[in-house]
Formats: sequence, C-alpha cells, structure tokens
Amino acid sequence: MPEPTTPTANPNQALWEKGDFTRIAASMRESGEALVASLGIRAGDKVLDLGCGDGTTALPAARLGADVLGVDISRNLVAAGNRRAAEAGLANCRFEQGDATELSGLEDDRFDHVISIFGAMFAPRPFDVAREMVRVTRPGGQIAMGNWIPNDPTLVAQILKISSAYSPPPPEGFVSPMTWGVREQVEARFGAAGIPATDIAFSEETYTFNFNGSPSEFVQTFHHYYGPTMNAFDAADKAGRSDALAGELNALFTRENRSGRADMTSIPATFLLVRVRVA
Ligand SMILES: C[S@@+](CC[C@H](N)C(=O)[O-])C[C@H]1O[C@@H](n2cnc3c(N)ncnc32)[C@H](O)[C@@H]1O
Repeated sequence: MPEPTTPTANPNQALWEKGDFTRIAASMRESGEALVASLGIRAGDKVLDLGCGDGTTALPAARLGADVLGVDISRNLVAAGNRRAAEAGLANCRFEQGDATELSGLEDDRFDHVISIFGAMFAPRPFDVAREMVRVTRPGGQIAMGNWIPNDPTLVAQILKISSAYSPPPPEGFVSPMTWGVREQVEARFGAAGIPATDIAFSEETYTFNFNGSPSEFVQTFHHYYGPTMNAFDAADKAGRSDALAGELNALFTRENRSGRADMTSIPATFLLVRVRVA
C-alpha cells in the first residue's frame, strides 16, 4: 500500500496521489525500458524524468549509466521511486517532488535529456510546462515527450474518454491533457518557448500493457488504483451508473486484449512521441 499522505489542496496533485499508480506502472515496465533504449541516452548524461511516477523510465535511464533525477508531483510516487532505485542499487537515480509547471529548484540548461512519458501532459498550464522543459534543457540537448492521442481507438485514450463521460465536468478554463496529443498544439506550446517547428519531430509509437490476470481483473486495478478511473467510479456510484461504467471498460479491455488467453492481458496502446531538439 502507498504511504499515507496528508491531503493536498492542489487538485492536480490530489488526483494522482489518490490511487497508487505503481499498480498500473507494473504493467508498463517492458515498454518503458524499450522506449528509453531508443532515446540516445549515454553513460554520464544528465537526465530529468518529469512526471516520472515510480520510475518506469527513470530506472532504465539510470541503468544506462545516466545521472537521473525523477520529478513528480505525487509524494507517494516519489517515495516509491526512491525505494525502487535503492532496491535496484542505483545510486545515480533519485526522485524528488516538484511541479512540471514551475521547476523552481532546477537551474537553466542543466540537463542533456528531459523525458516525460505520459507525465507532464497531465500538468495544468501546458505553455508553462513547455517553457520549463526547454529552460532546464542545455543547448544541444533533447526533450522526449510521450503523449496519449485524443480520440485514438486504443486503450488509454479510450479509458480517459469513457472515464470523463462519467465524471463531473472539469472546472472552467481546464485544458485537457489530451491536447498534448495534437501536433499543432505541441508546436504552439514549444514555439512559444522558442523552439521552431523544424526542431520538433513526431512519430506514433506503441506502449504495451502486460498484466498477469484477466482483462476484467485489470479493469479492477484501474478502478481501485488509477486516479482518473477512481474519480469516474466515485461519480458513477453517486449516479447509480457504476455497472454501466464497469461494463464499458470491461468491453474495451476484452476487445483490446492480444494475449490470446482469457487469464492474461496484453494490450498495445498508441501514443505520440514528440522529440524536440534544443539549439
Ligand atoms: C500516467 S502517470 C505516468 C508516470 C510515469 N511517467 C510512467 O510512465 O509510469 C502520470 C504522472 O504524472 C504525474 N504528474 C501529474 N501532474 C504533474 C505535475 N504538475 N508535475 C509533475 N508531475 C505530475 C503524476 O503524479 C503521475 O506520476
């Protein structure tokens, strides 16, 4: 179980501290490692993993010999990351709490690589996030962002779409995290941070979720440990619609399961990989 944490007034932080993302991240380790291996990270590089969770991508980067700092808004995940790094004997990987919209403790031009895989996309104020990522990357360094794509038919975009249909409407002015999956929006945000569109490359890639259990058991894991789905079930319960929500998610997970077995789940999900060259 995650450590008990005192409540926070920050809704962005509360959403991710509510559950225990480690339970989901456990199904994402292989893809995290494969993605990190493709980013050109070398021994001795300074790497920031922003919205790092419990280190799905931070630990593999440290195993390549990089000097890795993981920053995440959730205290329980920072603690889990530090615990996982210690258990793996990775003295070159540490985690601290911070907000992607305001990396006040991190000096300009500090990192060779800034990576954020399904992390910074969930922070509010995307223009601030882009500015901060560029600010802490050294000239000649790189940013790699993994973002889910709105209306994509694969797993995560559909979970978020279904969950939001059962959740209360977001507060006025809320910018959907999914807008980070739209190329023009990404160009506008990094453009405002001084990056020309010619220095931004996009590709659609696949992350595979591997879970040791049936698709409906995997839905249960999301129900009990994944903040956005927990909130959707809370709202659906109040409206007497939790069976309908569970039904939609079970149908989605079963349809997307490629394991060829009913008692194992393997689901590929498409995402937008954004690579930014900082001159
Ligand atoms: C879907 S999880 C992904 C975690 C990790 N990157 C991974 O691949 O396992 C989203 C993460 O973003 C973090 N996050 C959300 N808003 C944030 C913010 N404003 N600043 C830093 N981290 C944030 C959450 O706490 C959570 O760990």
